[in-house]
Amino acid sequence: MNKTNLLVVVVLFLILLQLLTVVIDASTCPPGTYYQEILHRPSCHECFYAEYCPGDGNNYPCPRGTVTPEEGMVACVKCPTIRTNSDQTVCLLADTPKDAREPDINDDENEIYTLDRKTPHWYTTIPVYGLPVGKPMELEYAFVPEQSKYDVPLTMFASLTTGQPNKNNFTWSFEGNNATIIIPYTRPDENTNFFIIYFNVAPTTVQQNSVKFIGRTFKGFQAKFSFVPNTKNSKVIDNIVNEENQVVLEWNNVPSVGRFNVSITLKDLSHEDDSYKSYSVCYSKQPSITYPNSFNSNLVVADNVNKQINIILQNAVGGVVRIGVVFGQLNIVQIDSELRILSNK
Ligand SMILES: *[C@@H]1O[C@H](CO)[C@@H](O)[C@H](O)[C@H]1NC(C)=O
Ligand SMILES: *[C@@H]1O[C@H](CO)[C@@H](O)[C@H](O)[C@H]1NC(C)=O
Ligand SMILES: *[C@@H]1O[C@H](CO)[C@@H](O)[C@H](O)[C@H]1NC(C)=O
Repeated sequence: MNKTNLLVVVVLFLILLQLLTVVIDASTCPPGTYYQEILHRPSCHECFYAEYCPGDGNNYPCPRGTVTPEEGMVACVKCPTIRTNSDQTVCLLADTPKDAREPDINDDENEIYTLDRKTPHWYTTIPVYGLPVGKPMELEYAFVPEQSKYDVPLTMFASLTTGQPNKNNFTWSFEGNNATIIIPYTRPDENTNFFIIYFNVAPTTVQQNSVKFIGRTFKGFQAKFSFVPNTKNSKVIDNIVNEENQVVLEWNNVPSVGRFNVSITLKDLSHEDDSYKSYSVCYSKQPSITYPNSFNSNLVVADNVNKQINIILQNAVGGVVRIGVVFGQLNIVQIDSELRILSNK
């Protein structure tokens, strides 16, 4: 290419660039998007949940009683019951009690709520956007008692199909401390982003009127291994983009010996800047805890991604050993783990 041709190409490119910047304005944003300038660069953005973008360049909040369960919607959907969750992403079931309460489980503040016998009804929205479609997995929802109230037993009934689950029509139930239910879940399609779970939960004993708790969901994948001494297991998990990601490493047929050495390394295969990314490794001595996490475990160790975490389990009971690995902000992750016997005492 000679110099004149090069000059022509450069000039054409500059003209094109100029055209592109001029072309985007409020009137050109298609329905489902809205116009916004970020750092003086005009662009069209996808309409967010609980908003609608009719195509006039603006985004508007959904009116009361309507929802948008997807992004990029041109209109809000009216709920038959005129009742919605507070995020306006899911309609409430018709039989949801008027006094049902909604804890903000996605709030990182660890807000403390009071469970009492007079108003036992709750519902909570579980976000599933970003989870892989068609892959069976398990979600865990836990009512974790406030530190000082661990000894208050709870009775819980939960359902997806009735706003008033009770002892006759529940899908999941729980009685005891650390109230936790496991919800088998397969995300059916890309457009399913949320669902609501309804609870009836209160202190079991009449003497105890109320108990403080923190509500939490964990989205878990189970990685099951049969115990073979001194064998490294490696697992790649992809496309999980939720804040509260969790993989449970489960070893079966572990002999009952005194001490184990568990070593775990997390590699960020998305190769983004991971200097600030951390993960934690959790172990609970209670076999009933299937998703050990930072709220229900006896041992929690955290470090940065790409650094190995080693924990020593003392007096571990054999059989099934579960280690929860909790991490966030990572798309593709490789987990290397090894469970080794240290002694037979
Ligand atoms: C469950 O029981 C409650 C209270 O009796 C009732 O209001 C609700 O409709 C029932 N739900 C189902 C699905 O049977
Ligand atoms: C546990 O295993 C790790 C990794 O193999 C090793 O670096 C560490 O020294 C071991 N700890 C003990 C107490 O054996
Ligand atoms: C869970 O419940 C048991 C009693 O059943 C209690 O000893 C333990 O401290 C509780 N706490 C956590 C964090 O799981």
